[in-house]
Amino acid sequence: MGLVSDERSPGAGVGALITFEGGEASGKSTQVELLAAWLTDRGYSVVTAREPGTTEVGLAARRALLDVDDELAPHAELALFIAARAQLAATVVTPALTAGKIVLLDRFGDSSVAYQGYGRGLEPERIAEWNRWATGGLVPDLTILIDVPVSDAVERRGDKPPDRLERAGDEFHERVRAGYERLAANEPFRFCVLDGRQPIDELQSAIRSRVGELLETRGSQRMAPR
Ligand SMILES: Nc1ncnc2c1ncn2[C@@H]1O[C@H](COP(=O)(O)OP(=O)(O)OP(=O)(O)O)[C@@H](O)[C@H]1O
Ligand SMILES: [Mg+2]
Repeated sequence: MGLVSDERSPGAGVGALITFEGGEASGKSTQVELLAAWLTDRGYSVVTAREPGTTEVGLAARRALLDVDDELAPHAELALFIAARAQLAATVVTPALTAGKIVLLDRFGDSSVAYQGYGRGLEPERIAEWNRWATGGLVPDLTILIDVPVSDAVERRGDKPPDRLERAGDEFHERVRAGYERLAANEPFRFCVLDGRQPIDELQSAIRSRVGELLETRGSQRMAPR
């Protein structure tokens, strides 16, 4: 789906919105980077962004969300994520899809449903609705969910100082993981769930094969061969 209304310029490729989800240190950024390079090499026009971040509002939200020590009320936490997402959708994602590009997002709306919904205990359904409202109805064409046990994630982080969400405790992160599992079970066609304990290159080849299928069925166009 990607865009609600079809506003693509004539002659542009058919855009696609692919999101990466999963717990802390599951390997999202690693896989986004590898996939972006692969798609670019194959002549696709690719835009990547991470959430929260990328836009100025997103970076301000990121600082407020992750770098502070204060207890943040769950609703305030949600509102900051939604603000960052709305800005990213309006200024980066929708224009790129309109231009027929492939957009890879390192986290998107499902993160709020998993973290603020299942993790913090706010209503998941309501958050899903707010995501649609805040993004003008953007729904990913494909969501890669990289699943890693919480204990593995802690081990991967090593000595790196944890941010505010990483400090939220194992029980919180177990609820997030179970929440993601539910989301994927509810939308099996949108989600592709992968075991993040596989080696990086094996994960990447599973992702490429799934993305290749998507682009083929959508008839996404490559730019002129380079
Ligand atoms: N498949 C893998 N197997 C083992 N280690 C991995 C794998 N993928 C990534 N890593 C390592 O785990 C760490 C976290 O990876 P990465 O930053 O890609 O995860 P992330 O999901 O983006 O994390 P964050 O939630 O902090 O943004 C890095 O040190 C990375 O090298
Ligand atoms: Mg990352």
